[in-house]
This record gives sequence, C-alpha cells and structure tokens, in this order.
Amino acid sequence: MKERGKFITLEGIDGAGKSSHLDFLCEQVRTRGHEAVLTREPGGTPAGEKVRELVLQVAMNAKAEALLMFAARAEHVANVIEPALAAGRWVVCDRFSDATYAYQCGGRGLPRDFVVGLERLVHPGLQPDATFLFDVDPAVAFERQRAQSRSPDRFESEKAGFFVRVRESYLERAREHSRRFHVVDASGGLQQVRDRIEVAFAQAFP
Ligand code: TMP
Repeated sequence: MKERGKFITLEGIDGAGKSSHLDFLCEQVRTRGHEAVLTREPGGTPAGEKVRELVLQVAMNAKAEALLMFAARAEHVANVIEPALAAGRWVVCDRFSDATYAYQCGGRGLPRDFVVGLERLVHPGLQPDATFLFDVDPAVAFERQRAQSRSPDRFESEKAGFFVRVRESYLERAREHSRRFHVVDASGGLQQVRDRIEVAFAQAFP
C-alpha cells in the first residue's frame, strides 16, 4: 500500500499574492519526488465551482456563506482531497477551513462554534499537514489588487477594516496552531517571497 500523501493549504487575505506561488509550491513537492495535485476552495469539483460562482457574486449572510463553503468542501474532500491523499499524492489546496474562520468568523463576525461544528461534520479527522499563511499588510494587498484589470468579487470589494479583521483572525489561528502554520512574509518582490517559501517548505517537510 502507498504511503498517504500530505495535505498542504495556502491561506491569506485577498491580494496577498498566494496565487502567484501555487505552481512554485507544487514544484517544491515534485522536487521531493511526490505527485502534486493542485486544487482550490471554494471550488475544485463541478458542484464546488458552481457554489464558488454563487458565493462570490450573490449577497447573503455569514451563516449562508459558511454553509455554502462547507457544502462545496464536503464534495471536495470526498471526491478530490481524500482519494488523492489515499493514493499517495500530495494535495496543494488554495484555501481550506481556516479561510472560513478568517473570513466568516473574523471578517463577518460569525461565532467560531458554528464553524467548529461544521468542521466536525464535514471533515472529522482531516486537517492540513502544513498551512502556509501569506501575510501582508491589507494596504499592500489592496494596491496589488488594484493593479489587476478584472472587476472585484464580493469579498474583494469589502472595505479595509474587513481585511484587517481577516488578517488578525488568520494570525490568531497561526498562533493557536503554531506547528501546522508557517507564516510567510508576502511583502516584497516575487523572488523574495519565493525564497521565503522555500525556507518555510523545508521547515515544514525537513
Ligand atoms: P480566492 O480569491 O483566493 O480564490 O478565494 C475566493 C474568496 O472566497 C476569497 O475572497 C475568500 C473567500 N472564502 C471565504 O470567505 N471563506 C472560505 O471558506 C473560503 C474557502 C474562501
């Protein structure tokens, strides 16, 4: 039987630049001789991608947002994440449940217990082996986003205060789960951040 793969997640506020580093992280996995599966949340399955469209475009309250994130997650865990890990592949996932704590609890004020309950229902026993948190000042993230030409979604359109709370919430989770979290300073140029990722990856998987 093949050894179970590792589950890696990437987190950070919108504009932290994590998308620019997804391929680089997969490269790190492959360099170590493992197969990498790149996926994202919300999304990663046909049903999940439909949920993504809905939740990024249509106004709704925080409970509904969290429930939809976890509906997509249930499908994603069952059909993509668990089968890949069981087959020995390493999964690199752009956001997971930490994002619900940061955005719906931190950003929108949803009680954490609500998400704790959903986690127990949807992925009992599954937590990332390593989470790379791309940390950057919301003002820097905002400027990065403004430089992109596409129109912002519901989350990206939030005010600065929202991202300050989301960032704080991520950093709080990083402190609470300090063995799993690796905080990467995402300020500066692409190569600078890459160098930091390489160091963090080597720490996570020595
Ligand atoms: P992305 O732009 O990084 O692909 O993420 C889409 C948006 O969805 C992003 O603004 C964060 C938000 N989100 C939540 O609010 N809660 C969640 O649980 C997840 C996975 C994403």
